[in-house]
Amino acid sequence: MSAPDHPSDKNAQDQSSKQSLWHANILTLFPEMFPGTLGLSLSGRALERGIWSLEAIDIRAFTEDRHKTVDDTPFGGGAGMVMRPDIIEKAVRSITRKGKMIYMSPRGKPLTQEKVAELAALPALTILCGRYEGVDQRVLDACDFEEISIGDYVLSGGEPAAIILMDACIRLLPTVMGNEETPYEESFSNGLLEYPHYTRPADWTDAKGVVRSVPDVLKSGHHEHIKTWRMQESLRLTHERRPDLIERLKKEV
Ligand code: ADE
Repeated sequence: MSAPDHPSDKNAQDQSSKQSLWHANILTLFPEMFPGTLGLSLSGRALERGIWSLEAIDIRAFTEDRHKTVDDTPFGGGAGMVMRPDIIEKAVRSITRKGKMIYMSPRGKPLTQEKVAELAALPALTILCGRYEGVDQRVLDACDFEEISIGDYVLSGGEPAAIILMDACIRLLPTVMGNEETPYEESFSNGLLEYPHYTRPADWTDAKGVVRSVPDVLKSGHHEHIKTWRMQESLRLTHERRPDLIERLKKEV
């Protein structure tokens, strides 16, 4: 734990001796991948302040054979190896503050901002990261793992997916984001993509000599007009890039 270096960190030392607000257990064959990027920036500072905590559990430590075998060939044949249920269950049973059980898998329900908010509001998660072809179905059933996917593509393992899920949760924890970085006006929080942002210089000449100006309305100081422009831009971008979100909103009304 490093010394507090910011006025908002005044309670950092007190918090280190308390239980964190949000705890994640990661079941993985690569514990050294954690905290990874979560040890930096906003999430890293929140980790140091004891707002959230993490335990990366090495599944291989629960093997009992000489070769430390965690996987075996699939019943029914086919390519690849499957992670054994007994080893994973032993690893799960070693955890005291388990919370909700999650298995990162391309077969899971897609992660949404709504789901992220639900998970960030819980006190603890246990996230299983698979490698190889996957995990024996019986341990997913026995330990009540909910399968979550971060998108329609296949990673070589669940670890980067777990880091993404955790990052999205951590930034919603109280005090993690400063006031100027409010999570409420951003993409998805109202079901739409966010409007474009601009800052100084108001007139900028790019490397090709093109003068690119900030839209006049944003410099007008007229709050109602700015609000309307931003909503129009949100709608335009969402129609163009994510018509599925527009359809979802239509169904809700
Ligand atoms: N593991 C491998 N691919 C994944 C994905 N798309 N989402 C979550 N976990 C994964």
